[in-house]
Amino acid sequence: MRHFLKETDFKAEELPTLFSLAHDLKTDRGRSQRPLEYESWGLLFFKKSTRTRVSFQVGVYELGGNPVLLTAEDMQLTRGESVADTARVLSRYLHGLVVRCYGHDVIEEFSNYAHIPVVNALTDYLHPCQIYSDLLTLAERWSPGNPNPQSLKGRKLVFLGDTACNMANSWILGGALTGMEIVLAGPTEFRPGTRIDEELKLAGLSNNYVFTDDPYAAVRGADVVYTDVWVSMGMEAEKSARLEKMRPYSVTAELMAQARPDACFMHCLPAHAGEEVTQAVLDSKASIIFDEAENRLHMQKAILAMLKKFQA
Ligand code: CP
Repeated sequence: MRHFLKETDFKAEELPTLFSLAHDLKTDRGRSQRPLEYESWGLLFFKKSTRTRVSFQVGVYELGGNPVLLTAEDMQLTRGESVADTARVLSRYLHGLVVRCYGHDVIEEFSNYAHIPVVNALTDYLHPCQIYSDLLTLAERWSPGNPNPQSLKGRKLVFLGDTACNMANSWILGGALTGMEIVLAGPTEFRPGTRIDEELKLAGLSNNYVFTDDPYAAVRGADVVYTDVWVSMGMEAEKSARLEKMRPYSVTAELMAQARPDACFMHCLPAHAGEEVTQAVLDSKASIIFDEAENRLHMQKAILAMLKKFQA
């Protein structure tokens, strides 16, 4: 059974097919390709969501399937039923399960016990659907009309702020898969942990990233400047300390000016304007934040369709 829990669950050589499928599905919007016809896919959320929830719900429908929206707090899970039993029961009703949860070990447990494909809709460790959608958005920019992962090779992406967060980890993996140069800039105490280096090793990928605490040096010559919120879901108690430490890494027009003249700005959203990025940068011509949000729908449809194909 193929699951999609992390970026490296697809091989680099599978990416051209995945991108091409996402491109076709984007053009088609569910009019001819319906690989999930007569199937029901569960969308299980332990955390809040706008983009992920709606894009998966619309995506399953457009692929011909029935999206079944599940919130953990309304299930027996929050009254002590185990993940193992929940996974085995849901496998008797559903054809696939998309899960957003806190610990990555929880989604691994779902995949260990489920008899259906499990898809990671974000954990505290990784956000692979977001990264794949972002990679598609960049490939559309650099190989228009035929988005090709080859066009990403050698491009420099700088991620600023909390460089130990799930999005930073996911960029390390996504960058290594596609040959991008990844620079992480943030306070030293938030530098990436050894777990992600082990993950690269496990996938047979070489270490493609560097870390620096100097935001201006990092952004010089960047093709892409990327950031995420400084206080993720579940970290509210640390809010004031985090804001204080991350302030120098806020993406401003002055910082963007260090990047290449044709550089773009990306953010997975939701954004906290005035914290990790200014409203002026969010609204600037360089900003492609809504293109990446849109591509969540098209790329996730391609991921589900590929997982379905692997089962055949
Ligand atoms: N970027 C992202 O995952 O958005 P949501 O939290 O709204 O799903």
